Amino acid sequence: MVAQQAVAARNGEASPSTYPKVRRIRFRFGEPTPMNRHFVEGNIPLTHLVAILSGAFPPGEESFIRSVRKFADQITDPVLKKRVAGFIGQESVHGQEHRHLNEKLIDMGFPLVRFFMFDHDSRRQRALMRIENMVPAKVHLAFTAAAEHYTATLAERLFLDEMQAIPGDPEVWNLLNWHAMEELEHKSVAFDVYRHVGRPEWIRIGVMGIMYVLTLPLVTVVVMVSIATDPRGWRPFKVLRQTYGIFRGPLVKGLMRDLRVYMKPGFHPDDVDTTALLDKWRKELFGTQGALVGHLK
Ligand SMILES: [Fe+2]
Ligand SMILES: [Fe+2]
Repeated sequence: MVAQQAVAARNGEASPSTYPKVRRIRFRFGEPTPMNRHFVEGNIPLTHLVAILSGAFPPGEESFIRSVRKFADQITDPVLKKRVAGFIGQESVHGQEHRHLNEKLIDMGFPLVRFFMFDHDSRRQRALMRIENMVPAKVHLAFTAAAEHYTATLAERLFLDEMQAIPGDPEVWNLLNWHAMEELEHKSVAFDVYRHVGRPEWIRIGVMGIMYVLTLPLVTVVVMVSIATDPRGWRPFKVLRQTYGIFRGPLVKGLMRDLRVYMKPGFHPDDVDTTALLDKWRKELFGTQGALVGHLK
């Protein structure tokens, strides 16, 4: 069904779930109950992993938006144009709400989160833009398409019962569930822009190859550095045991296999059917009795 929708979308036919829906939403972190320092209860590396990802999302997602906008004038298909508008809207709101959480995390003392929080006229932003402009636009877009497969794969895993059972701050869980759901809604937009503008498969696959090799080790190192900045996290045996648990647990075990499918020639993100999962979580979060209806602005 999803594959049919993708074909329909590519042929310019709209279906009700073709367009990512932009939801204006507001999360209230630390209200009324203050957040615990290790807000993924008792799990030091998982708390720092969530904090680092939340820190990296706003600048990362702004870069994804820029990569797609560079090709905006080449998008002739009206359906794809509307899907791109939905993608940009969703990623913008994700950035806003993660910034909101990041401010809280900085107050709680996560210095690496502060590192990612920079203004648009800051030196760090200018350095990022310089790097971005050195990369060919098609490679930048291929990077976004690959990153979207990465986030959609993590989103699917986040919705596993075993993950949902992990106790943590309820508002952080709400943010993660909302973000994951919308990542599934727009998972193929950047990919379809890449195809629409006729870019080669070898670049798309090569960029994922680089990301496949580097991302997990890089994130692991950054999480360990983040833990080193946290005196309450200096419990080496506990950290090692919990880190091993993350690698053997539902978030990471088998992740590389799921990422590899992207490197098959001819692969499309909608080949991984997430329709039922998405329907379930749309109802769960934004149906009539949805858990996050009261969060909408
Ligand atoms: Fe996002
Ligand atoms: Fe995304």
